[in-house]
Amino acid sequence: MASNFTVECMDCGHQAPFFAGTPSCPQCGSFWREARYDYAELSKTLLPLLQRRPFDLWRYRELLPVRSPNPDLSLGEGGTPLIRATNLGMMLGCPNIFIKDERQGPTASFKDRQAAVSVASLKEAGIQEYVIASTGNVAISYSAYAARASIKLWAFLTSLVPAAKMREVAIYGTQVIKITGSYDQAKQVASRFATQKGIQQDLGARSIPCIEAMKTISFEIAEQLATLLGPEPGTNGKEPTPLHAPDWYIQAVSGGMGPIGVMKGFSELQQLGWTSSSPRIAAIQAEGCAPMVHAWKQGRDTAAPVQSPHTLIATLATGDPGRTYTVLRQKMLDASGGAFESVSDEEAYRAMHFVAKMEGLSVEPAAAVAFAGLVKLVRAGVIKPSETVVVNCTGHTMAIESNVLGDGWSRDIVLPSSTAVAGEAIEEGLLAALSKVATDRFPRILIVDDNADVRRLIRRILQSQGDYTLYEATNGREAVEMAQKERPNLIILDLMMPEMDGFAVMERLQTSSETAEIPVIIVTAKELTQAEKERLKGHIQKLMQKGDFMSDDLSDEVRALLR
Ligand SMILES: Cc1ncc(COP(=O)(O)O)c(C=O)c1O
Ligand SMILES: [Zn+2]
Repeated sequence: MASNFTVECMDCGHQAPFFAGTPSCPQCGSFWREARYDYAELSKTLLPLLQRRPFDLWRYRELLPVRSPNPDLSLGEGGTPLIRATNLGMMLGCPNIFIKDERQGPTASFKDRQAAVSVASLKEAGIQEYVIASTGNVAISYSAYAARASIKLWAFLTSLVPAAKMREVAIYGTQVIKITGSYDQAKQVASRFATQKGIQQDLGARSIPCIEAMKTISFEIAEQLATLLGPEPGTNGKEPTPLHAPDWYIQAVSGGMGPIGVMKGFSELQQLGWTSSSPRIAAIQAEGCAPMVHAWKQGRDTAAPVQSPHTLIATLATGDPGRTYTVLRQKMLDASGGAFESVSDEEAYRAMHFVAKMEGLSVEPAAAVAFAGLVKLVRAGVIKPSETVVVNCTGHTMAIESNVLGDGWSRDIVLPSSTAVAGEAIEEGLLAALSKVATDRFPRILIVDDNADVRRLIRRILQSQGDYTLYEATNGREAVEMAQKERPNLIILDLMMPEMDGFAVMERLQTSSETAEIPVIIVTAKELTQAEKERLKGHIQKLMQKGDFMSDDLSDEVRALLR
């Protein structure tokens, strides 16, 4: 922590030194305060220091409210990868989508930052017992850090939290109190308990350590984007800056702490002169519990509480965001704007599937809400193809809830018991069982495109949505040969290919009775002229524009044509 670090009251402006044991303003009693540092001084000294430090959250220690970080409490928090979402980017036609993989925190969610800094600051203040209310992940993270710091933790959890998460909280030795009711009710009970027992409680977005912890996400993103994309160029007469802010930061939101912290982080980077802009924030809520989205869209600065959240995504079930929404909205309006959007549980579950199948990341439903929001905002034209977007992948899926997968996600093979039959019989049993999972009973689809990335993308989309036997052809001639040899049930055809283009392929297929009936979907980047459209008329089943269709559009079309 920097020596000249103070906290300023957002209500009366009073400045006071920070002490974790005194969470409110000594002058007016307000809990809404913000940390302030000497940015002019730090802008001169900190950057060279960073270059020598490991990539974790404590590399920014001069900008955190902990006097001397104790390595014995650390679990390796922060320093998560920023991954380019190549396939998702290709599907959406946005080449600069990045995923901040917060699943890689010690307990697999971004709340590890908050817990690490909060618990470190509690420990410094000599606090030995603490109360939290949680929709799951906060309780898990605090439990892990409290265990290391020997702080006794009371966790009040809504009964909506999946049992696997509750057990995870308990294994760290936390006292778990399950409240049969909403998360807001669990918070009220926790608060009453804390007051009654005289134990300090977590104040969420009103807590200095929580907000300060969350801002490290912005610092890391700006450093990582500078490595991946280069420093920000100096535009409009501005000097180039050493770090690089994205155009958008997207996060699934419940209480709203993450975006407030992240905005503060980007604002500090500008004050330090390390970036020239801050991203717009896209805060995404679950449709059945979206008080902030409703208020934002109605232009209101207070959010009407949702009394009974209707979402299976318990992690995001804050029905009453209170003043956090007002603060967040004001900050967004003061900065470069942003968006609040909601998505349905189904959209989030679909996003879980495509993020796993296209990018190799298994994310929890709450994290998937951000990805579903990304799709919605790109489709609506709010996020532009040229913009740099960072999606916070806030948490890893645990013990996948059955409603996400539905039925039929596994193929079961029952082998004859080895004691009952011997030798050849076992072999036969195995072959018989495997024949059931043979691929040739699946519809056959030929993908024709000279661009390997496009073939790969289409393959991934199809594989993620059903069982198909897929063939690929890299040019027109190969496509015609394969169509004749393999007789696919469907062809997905590119138009612009060297030598023999898609038009010529179509015409050749029409000349043979064996291939003339095969349905064709054209996937093209080309703006077709009227004459070209005429040429295709009657010969193709569907025309799709590259970068403009979603995985669902393509697979719905494929399913319909194969029916
Ligand atoms: C995985 C995950 N994503 C998103 C959120 C929403 O975070 P917040 O609204 O506090 O920024 C949470 C909150 O617990 C979470 O656990
Ligand atoms: Zn005050």
